[in-house]
Amino acid sequence: MSERTQVGIVGAGPAGLVLGHLLHGMGIEAVVLEDRSREYVERRIRAGVLEQGTVDLLKEMGVGARMEREGLVHEGVELRFGGRGHRIDFVALTGGRAITIYGQQEVVKDLIAARLDFGGPLLFEVEDVRPEGIESGSPTLRFRHEAVERELRCDIVAGCDGHHGVCRDAVPAGALTVHQRDWPFAWLGILAEVAPSSDELIYCHSERGFALHSLRSPELTRLYLQCDPYDELDSWPDARIWEELHTRFATDGWSLAEGPIVERGITPMRSFVAEPMQHGRLYLAGDAVHIVPPTGAKGLNLAVADVRVLAEGLERFFSTGDQSLLRAYSDTCLRRVWHTQHFSWWMTSMLHRMPDDHDGFQAKLQLAQLDYVCSSPAASTSLAENYVGLQL
Ligand code: APR
Ligand code: PHB
Repeated sequence: MSERTQVGIVGAGPAGLVLGHLLHGMGIEAVVLEDRSREYVERRIRAGVLEQGTVDLLKEMGVGARMEREGLVHEGVELRFGGRGHRIDFVALTGGRAITIYGQQEVVKDLIAARLDFGGPLLFEVEDVRPEGIESGSPTLRFRHEAVERELRCDIVAGCDGHHGVCRDAVPAGALTVHQRDWPFAWLGILAEVAPSSDELIYCHSERGFALHSLRSPELTRLYLQCDPYDELDSWPDARIWEELHTRFATDGWSLAEGPIVERGITPMRSFVAEPMQHGRLYLAGDAVHIVPPTGAKGLNLAVADVRVLAEGLERFFSTGDQSLLRAYSDTCLRRVWHTQHFSWWMTSMLHRMPDDHDGFQAKLQLAQLDYVCSSPAASTSLAENYVGLQL
């Protein structure tokens, strides 16, 4: 079966779904192909920090109602080190900007519901997606759906299929330059059914390693701790997880509430960028072309920022034939990508115990850096403006 559309989008994560919605608003046809089931993508637990710019865009797109009802606006964050907490006041330091805590899977749920509402083509459980002819003026996406071989002829292919997708691999060898760093630690993340122990996020530096207190709702706490990248989940029974969290977060007058752990996972820490973000009629966005360690809470926000630039370029191309914005897509996005890579690398380097720090020299430097960030208005402003989202 052969069909035609203007933009073939591979992947129904934040990048693919936001792009699909923006294009719909611009009157541009698109088809979204996703190889997992709807239930799977809507239940996949990921991070949950939305920059001011992402929040504003979701509202502008008309998919922000539930986020506004259920999302939690945070006007600051705590940095905890040396057993003491220090608040970074985003609103005061950035002229009123803040973040919103709202799970990535909730954003995905809202976008899928909106797309199905306006009848936007979205196929789940597609198999064997093959981008072809991306160097021609008429690329094609071949795939199987419900055991039927199908062909989607497009003007443009948007590769929004994440780090392990097929689109980046469709770029001929040698055409991409890859920059990668694997960090010598990972994050053990849990979701616990207990009221959060703090109204805001706590980024904690401790001799035993990093820990993060985050949340999903007044009943759900999200916690992370630095672990060895080769650790297996069964080497972390509940008692050991809670004992480690209590030790790392320890400070006078505060305690961490425990509750049933309903979800857990170990996430490797990687910094990754492939350049350029475009090859022929294939445009790559989000995790398909860059990965940031989660310490800066930037993954989702960077994916949304990419497709915002791409949608503007596609609107100009389809309405006037002018490809200038599309030609600038990669360079425009890479400026933000590398700013964000730097911020995520900086936060990760400042807050995690380095396994090779045998004499504690790095830990001393980290504590001095944290003290500077929390005592210098210039340094805390730098953290705040990066965290709420750079206005590039
Ligand atoms: N065919 C179709 N769909 C695919 C394929 C494929 N071959 N491979 C992957 N996908 C789908 C995945 O199932 C997923 O739903 O592409 C989607 C990619 O979504 P994400 O991985 O969420 O990537 P992105 O939309 O770029 O969002 C980045 O996601 O992983 C987090 O931390 C990351 O927050 C960041 C955000
Ligand atoms: C989360 O809430 O899952 C979260 C928050 C901040 C981060 C990473 C993840 O830096």
